[in-house]
Amino acid sequence: MIVASTISVLREQVARHRRAGERIAFVPTMGSLHAGHLRLMSEARQRAPVVTASIYINPLQFSANEDFDAYPRTPEEDRVALESVGVDVLFMPGDREMYARSAAAVTRVEVPGLGDILCGAFRPGHFQGVATVVTRLFNLVQPDVAIFGKKDYQQLMVVRRMVEDLGMPVEIIGVETVRESDGLALSSRNRYLAASERALAPRLYKTLDGVRKRMLAGATPLGAETWAMEALRAAGFRPDYVSVRRQADLAPPEGADRGLVVLAAAWLGKTRLIDNLEFHLD
Ligand code: PAJ
Repeated sequence: MIVASTISVLREQVARHRRAGERIAFVPTMGSLHAGHLRLMSEARQRAPVVTASIYINPLQFSANEDFDAYPRTPEEDRVALESVGVDVLFMPGDREMYARSAAAVTRVEVPGLGDILCGAFRPGHFQGVATVVTRLFNLVQPDVAIFGKKDYQQLMVVRRMVEDLGMPVEIIGVETVRESDGLALSSRNRYLAASERALAPRLYKTLDGVRKRMLAGATPLGAETWAMEALRAAGFRPDYVSVRRQADLAPPEGADRGLVVLAAAWLGKTRLIDNLEFHLD
């Protein structure tokens, strides 16, 4: 595995593979890798002979009061894990290499609508930060295909929309969420959870499954959402939202919509957890 900490080394590697006519798959991450990230790497491996990954904790997607400084960093373990799953090129740039300009001055990419609802409403500027860094990473790596997890469902939708609107020549693949045996979605932020919080955390997914069951039994989205918010509060969470949306565009469902997804964000102590569950009515 080649580890590129500069853009020039990354570009040399990309150019070498492009000259050889090889397809390039790309998996962007913020490191602190777990089995969910590694699932994306194996998906990438199945889709292209060359797998590129990046580790970069993107300051643009954190607001001032968020956990940028505390975000877990495990670069040595990450490197070993990526090497062991056969990643060919790892891009690990420093902040100055990624953004020559200050955060306030850098050119930005925005996906209005999709980027402003749900998590975007609770984390203003977050999806603009994601769209901006993913655009920059796509321009540096020039992948044919890029892999994202459905764990960050709204992020996947934002990236798909951005690629479509800007005509980026990258195929976007979404991968199912990898979970612990008790249902908790793997997340780098799970390390923040105290033992008592970790014991409660699987209730988030169980509550989403409760929403699914209620919707299949004929509940309205509002009825199911209200039940879920109360269930989460009673269990000790502080939910930001629980929302039933249509899979196609994350708009509120209308009568005829069948392909739905319930998305939620909820705090356990100082940790914000997100999860979602797709389902079909009928
Ligand atoms: P990060 O949170 O490190 O996640 C990197 C990728 O791993 C994302 O596509 C995410 O959806 C996926 N992922 C995380 N947990 C997963 C799980 N349990 N199962 C399957 N996939 C999972 O998402 C980001 O980083 C950043 O926003 C980034 C896209 C890198 C831009 O900075």
